[in-house]
Amino acid sequence: MKILITGGAGFIGSYLSNALSQNNFVFILDDFSSGTGLLLEKNSNIKIYRSEINKDILENIVKNVDLIIHLASIVGVDITIKNFKKVIQNLKNTLILTKIAQKYNKPIIFSSSSDVYGLLGIFKKKSFKEDDFFVFEFSNRWNYAHVKCLEENVIRLSNLPFIIFRIFNTYGFGVDLKKPSRVFASFLYSIIFKKPITIFGHGNQKRAFCYIDDTVKGFILGVKYLIKNKCKETFNIGNDKEIYSINELKDLMIKIAKKLKILHEDIDVIYLPTKERGDIFTDIEFRKPDLSKIKNILGYEPKIDLKTGIELSFKKALKFKNKWIKLLQK
Ligand SMILES: NC(=O)c1ccc[n+]([C@@H]2O[C@H](COP(=O)([O-])OP(=O)(O)OC[C@H]3O[C@@H](n4cnc5c(N)ncnc54)[C@H](O)[C@@H]3O)[C@@H](O)[C@H]2O)c1
Repeated sequence: MKILITGGAGFIGSYLSNALSQNNFVFILDDFSSGTGLLLEKNSNIKIYRSEINKDILENIVKNVDLIIHLASIVGVDITIKNFKKVIQNLKNTLILTKIAQKYNKPIIFSSSSDVYGLLGIFKKKSFKEDDFFVFEFSNRWNYAHVKCLEENVIRLSNLPFIIFRIFNTYGFGVDLKKPSRVFASFLYSIIFKKPITIFGHGNQKRAFCYIDDTVKGFILGVKYLIKNKCKETFNIGNDKEIYSINELKDLMIKIAKKLKILHEDIDVIYLPTKERGDIFTDIEFRKPDLSKIKNILGYEPKIDLKTGIELSFKKALKFKNKWIKLLQK
């Protein structure tokens, strides 16, 4: 098959492009705004277009592919709070892409986020299901989630075959390489470069951590299912077993770094009030995906526990350390 991956030079995109290019031809469209392509393997089955999403390039690529995987996005709540225009640009890009996909009748996989469940984690301490309702406050904190909801609707209303994946906390080496800000990326950076770890709030808020290889396996199951069944489905994707607080994540990462002899002594930990992350920042205490739908329909089962995922991430970070330093200096 021929597949277009927008945002293919980013974190999820790089791992996914490498995996899919084993048996398919992958076109990557990426402006390298947050992506670096560092982890992309040299492979004659990958062709990279270094550009923002725009109509002309998309026209050329989309008519030649069997499937579109749309990952390109400004990502992360902290960044999106400060860049309202860029969040709106996400929506405009999804509209442009969907229109061209409609013209050539191409199925789409869209990457949404667990953030669309909004404040549900405050009211409902169980796991979130795809047909749950959403609860938001009107604040910049929720711009990213609001726009993801609208983008989901653009895809749903397109009448094209689609899969929407609501991604719950995927981690691994390669997140935010240029500017480590998301939680796993910032802890990994602090430990590898021996800088203080910063935690916003008390650190007892819990998350379900999914290693990148499991997310990629889920996407590949989705690709096969979508091509075969021309479905219109929304799935949570993540890991429903690896639930840890931010403090526990920090402790585990430090312990494993010591075992791997990356750290020889303790590292400073700084706790900052949540409001330091932006105006009216509401953090969610608990977030866990209900995965029954994706398990039943796609046969998805996450396999990699947090301890193993951290070890794999550290090993990769060491392998790429020199190239990473060069990226950070740019
Ligand atoms: N990693 C997670 O845990 C997570 C969770 C929820 C949702 N998601 C979603 O998954 C997708 C991929 O996320 P990621 O973690 O790989 O982030 P990422 O920042 O590494 O990847 C996004 C990629 O899109 C590119 N990009 C951004 N704007 C672009 C534009 N206008 N034109 C072309 N390229 C553009 C960036 O350069 C980058 O390579 C995003 O849509 C994100 O919202 C990820």
